[in-house]
Amino acid sequence: MALTRLARLQQALNERAARQLLRQPVTVERYHGRLITAGGKQYLNFSGNDYLGLAQDPEVLQAYAAGATEYGAGSSGSPLVTGQHKVHQQLTDTLCEWLGQERALLFSSGFAANQAMLLTLAEKSDVLLLDKLSHASLIDAAMHSQAGFKRFAHNDLTALGQLLQQTPASQHAMVVTEGVFSMDGDSPDLTAILSLCKQYDAPLLLDDAHGLGVLGPEGRGTAAAQGVAGVELFCQMANFGKALGVGGAFVAASKTVIDYLEQFARHYIYSTALSPALCAAVLKSIALCRGQQWRRDKLQQNIALFRQLAADLPLLVSTTPIQGVVLGSSERALAASAQLKQTGIWLSAIRPPTVPAGSARLRITLSSQHTEQDISMLVQHLRQAV
Ligand SMILES: Cc1ncc(COP(=O)(O)O)c(C=O)c1O
Repeated sequence: MALTRLARLQQALNERAARQLLRQPVTVERYHGRLITAGGKQYLNFSGNDYLGLAQDPEVLQAYAAGATEYGAGSSGSPLVTGQHKVHQQLTDTLCEWLGQERALLFSSGFAANQAMLLTLAEKSDVLLLDKLSHASLIDAAMHSQAGFKRFAHNDLTALGQLLQQTPASQHAMVVTEGVFSMDGDSPDLTAILSLCKQYDAPLLLDDAHGLGVLGPEGRGTAAAQGVAGVELFCQMANFGKALGVGGAFVAASKTVIDYLEQFARHYIYSTALSPALCAAVLKSIALCRGQQWRRDKLQQNIALFRQLAADLPLLVSTTPIQGVVLGSSERALAASAQLKQTGIWLSAIRPPTVPAGSARLRITLSSQHTEQDISMLVQHLRQAV
């Protein structure tokens, strides 16, 4: 019996390998923002999410160390028992003030936050309407939720409108989208989605993992960048592991929504609270992110330079740090990635099931730390590789 099960697992691995879809974990030996060392070799890194260069900022590192000394390395409890420290409260207060929300709740990861958000807030009589390119954490949550689940074509307001219109009177639609799509780097028109949501009395839930810190005044994210007030959203989540360079996540919303999550979200209640040292680092990171507009300006310059130099390449339309070059087959994407590695550029191939079949790609992520020279070198080698 055990052998049969093991044989089945092995067969699934073999099949994945035969389709060029096996993922190889990489151990990074040194991380220096724009540079990483792996397998004893240094590469220019175009695959990270440290968009503002905060993961290695000395002030953030100092806050982490000081936070550990003051509050401890671990929270030593779940948040409703003994895991909530003063610094957790400071972090949620800061998030609310920054984003114009009434309350926020912390989670150990963005994946957990999305699970909690959809599984807890969607009821049996609801139908979750998700953008087709939603992150796996949203799709999994919707699939496991007791609510119905439908997907609309990517950023397609007509398709969303049709689904809303078709929702029977006995069901209530909840719309879920992302501020910046993780694999394509584009954004929905939130004002237009909100107006549809209002028409059908449907709440809008936003995953802004890739927008927070990068977009909008003080890096308040996609909604703020599009002139949408935080209170217009039913709730929003983002993580601290991307532009803020640390780890963990939050959901922010009205007092009622967060009070409800606090009582009923199992990913929150039955999980050890975030490390207080980490919260201290995130607080510093938020302060730098808000106050140092030059990081966003430099990032935008790098994005503009990349798009200008690579204008002849098959780029997806994106004005964010996520830039995709779709190559089609996994073999092509892997070969291009391997060729780039030979030239000292770290650029991962993204293959199904992370992206739809036939749309394997190189996903370039830009950071404020990249220099003009880094970007010209990238484009030069990219052109040869594709
Ligand atoms: C859009 C989106 N949502 C959620 C997550 C999950 O966040 P985390 O990595 O903190 O679990 C990610 C990142 O992987 C993401 O890209």
